[in-house]
Amino acid sequence: MEHRPIGIIVNGVTGRMGYRQHLVRSLLAIREQGGVPLADGTRLWPEPVLVGRSEAKLREIAERHGLTDWTTDLAAALERPDVQIYFDAQITSQREKAVRAAIEAGKHIYTEKPTAEDLAAAVGLAQAADAAGVKHGVVQDKLFLPGLRKLDRLVKGGFFGRILSVRGEFGYWVFEGDWQAAQRPSWNYRAADGGGIVTDMFPHWHYVLEQIVAPVRAVTAHATTHIPRRWDEKGKEYAATADDAAYAIFELDGGIVAQINSSWAVRVYRDELVEFQVDGTEGSAVAGLRNCRIQHRAATPKPVWNPDVPATEDFRAQWQTVPDNEDFDNGFKAQWELFLRHVVLDAPFPWDLWAGARGVQLAELALQSAREGRRVEVPPLAGEPVR
Ligand SMILES: NC(=O)c1ccc[n+]([C@@H]2O[C@H](COP(=O)([O-])OP(=O)(O)OC[C@H]3O[C@@H](n4cnc5c(N)ncnc54)[C@H](O)[C@@H]3O)[C@@H](O)[C@H]2O)c1
Repeated sequence: MEHRPIGIIVNGVTGRMGYRQHLVRSLLAIREQGGVPLADGTRLWPEPVLVGRSEAKLREIAERHGLTDWTTDLAAALERPDVQIYFDAQITSQREKAVRAAIEAGKHIYTEKPTAEDLAAAVGLAQAADAAGVKHGVVQDKLFLPGLRKLDRLVKGGFFGRILSVRGEFGYWVFEGDWQAAQRPSWNYRAADGGGIVTDMFPHWHYVLEQIVAPVRAVTAHATTHIPRRWDEKGKEYAATADDAAYAIFELDGGIVAQINSSWAVRVYRDELVEFQVDGTEGSAVAGLRNCRIQHRAATPKPVWNPDVPATEDFRAQWQTVPDNEDFDNGFKAQWELFLRHVVLDAPFPWDLWAGARGVQLAELALQSAREGRRVEVPPLAGEPVR
């Protein structure tokens, strides 16, 4: 079958996300399945150009996967006519200038979230991409997780009746790095390097709420740094200046209240690392990364508060499991395939740099709420085109 090559710069490919989720689990996985099949019988074939700062690391990754195209010279890669897409998985603080250069070079843009460190920069990128006429997209992988796909199915099928509230619990213990190595990069804990759990996670909560439940209209947040000292990749002690936990209330359209705890200083007593409980007049659901459980109004028990006797009911056993009913692919890969179709066939792709900017906006307003100790409304994004 004929391959239709599509050149893709993968910048930040030596990082956790760039390597594992985007190169290996998405672009190389697409090649292993034989490319993305198109209606004319050809197959879209990603040709990754690995870009980063370290020759040795790039060469090692390329050799491990039988690839030959890598460079530390981004500007030269952007000049290549056989490259159509620029993808960015660098640390957040490096993103804006690289994406801007790629837009100026006329490349289509696909990027990790957050799309920039602040709202003005995020909006600037969306405007620049529109003005240049290039296509653009942002990673919103949580929407493609099996658990959240099932939750979305429940909402679209009217299972909940009127949705009342959402409570989200995200987090796990990130080791300080002294007696056991930290399992996340140290820049995540330094404000000056673009770290912080609000900047990292609130863009995710924004699209999950907006696209599955309802748009967010106001936020009240408390952000804090529970663990003030950590040890970096080289074992060197440093001051953790970024927030590592945030406790937020979001007000959504329709009077829905979403309350989400995000923390890298919490120990897991849950079934999954993130879980969202949605309560509605007709039923409730608890969705995680993979699973989703429901309890219908008609199957709701009637607990009676009595601290004098041990719990008589096994509350967890009273929920039903939502079946898969379909095969779920890796979420990053599923979204990559949609983006490639968007670039080549103009297929719809709503997760653009404007959607990314709305996520950055919510994170920024949440930080403002935390700083000022007050509720902050979320205004429409100035300059966003009406669609
Ligand atoms: N979609 C998701 O679920 C998800 C999850 C984690 C991280 N992310 C995002 O992905 C991006 C990368 O995060 P990560 O966890 O892979 O980080 P990482 O530290 O593992 O990787 C960072 C990459 O950026 C490169 N880089 C470029 N300039 C750098 C500099 N000056 N200092 C340090 N590194 C530099 C590194 O070489 C590396 O390739 C971030 O923007 C983050 O917000 C998204």
